[in-house]
Amino acid sequence: MEATAKANTNIALIKYWGKRDEQLFLPMNSSLSITLDQLSTTTTVRWNLDLEKDVFWLNGQLEGEEEANKISRFLDKVRMQMEEKWYATVESVNQVPTSAGFASSASGFAALAAAATKAAGLALNHQQLSILARQGSGSACRSIYGGFVEWRKGERLDGSDSYAIPILQPHEWDLSILSVLVESKKKKVLSREGMKRTVETSPFYSGWLEAVPIDMQLAKEAIHHRDFEKLGRVTESNAMKMHATTLGANPPFMYWQSATFDVMEQVLELRKKGIQAYFTIDAGPNVKVLCEPHDQKKVCEVLKSLPLVKDVFICHPGSGITYL
Ligand code: ADP
Ligand code: DP6
Repeated sequence: MEATAKANTNIALIKYWGKRDEQLFLPMNSSLSITLDQLSTTTTVRWNLDLEKDVFWLNGQLEGEEEANKISRFLDKVRMQMEEKWYATVESVNQVPTSAGFASSASGFAALAAAATKAAGLALNHQQLSILARQGSGSACRSIYGGFVEWRKGERLDGSDSYAIPILQPHEWDLSILSVLVESKKKKVLSREGMKRTVETSPFYSGWLEAVPIDMQLAKEAIHHRDFEKLGRVTESNAMKMHATTLGANPPFMYWQSATFDVMEQVLELRKKGIQAYFTIDAGPNVKVLCEPHDQKKVCEVLKSLPLVKDVFICHPGSGITYL
């Protein structure tokens, strides 16, 4: 009744931003991401007859009630499929900063879905795992697969058609994704809360929903033709649109810090000098910079030289879940 799984985090090029059903984690829009080759979570789940509740250890620390309850609510969905309704010990290690906009929830719930079901002896296929992981954190449904991945929002009320599908294997197009760390502290507005507030109060949200299908189409064309410039432009403009919705929310909020702007400006400077680099930002101050592998060294050097940049992790498209 024990299993260990590892999942890599993913970076959205076309963002998931907003839910139409909060219980089932059904998104308002489809999204598209790259699963990275590092920045991962490794999780061990041990179902145990003697436990009276689930226990959650994260990075060697016993987590409090709030975090443990999130895990328990997720494990309830696995328990529903188990004959014996046992509780579990979950031990998870993030090789990625937690709650800082590096998508720890994506790798976290993808690894948990895989480990918990395997430990329970349930043989779920990748599509079923994607649907399960989605119900822990939406973006986690994409981390089940490697490479370039699309999460189709689906139409059904029960969420049975809302899951990720792989569109390109990692080796089919190598890009460099530089994850630029400017802040590793826990962010003030979690993605979940931020997207909810935006859907409910931002007058710009309807513009976001109008724009996503067009951006999605452009991104898919760019991936199909391996057109890096086209992919970079749509990735950057999609991130800007997502962040614009937060400025219109009530109360308004923004994820960027001054260091975030420094990185964005530097990327624009690089482009002026003829180096194709593009940024994207998730729900946090850290920035991911996309470039082609032959420019990676130069781009990395320039980013590392910025005074407020703490670290740069060099990533490439990586694999989906693995069992250890
Ligand atoms: P991030 O940018 O890191 O994804 P989010 O606000 O989207 O930030 O998600 C952070 C939440 O993800 C945490 O509060 C926690 O509930 C969950 N999480 C992080 N790491 C793990 C993990 N290893 N296993 C399960 N859940 C995790
Ligand atoms: C900005 O998947 O963390 O990173 O479903 O509420 O857990 P919940 O949200 P989460 O949100 C990710 C938001 C994003 C964009 C993306 O990854 O697509």
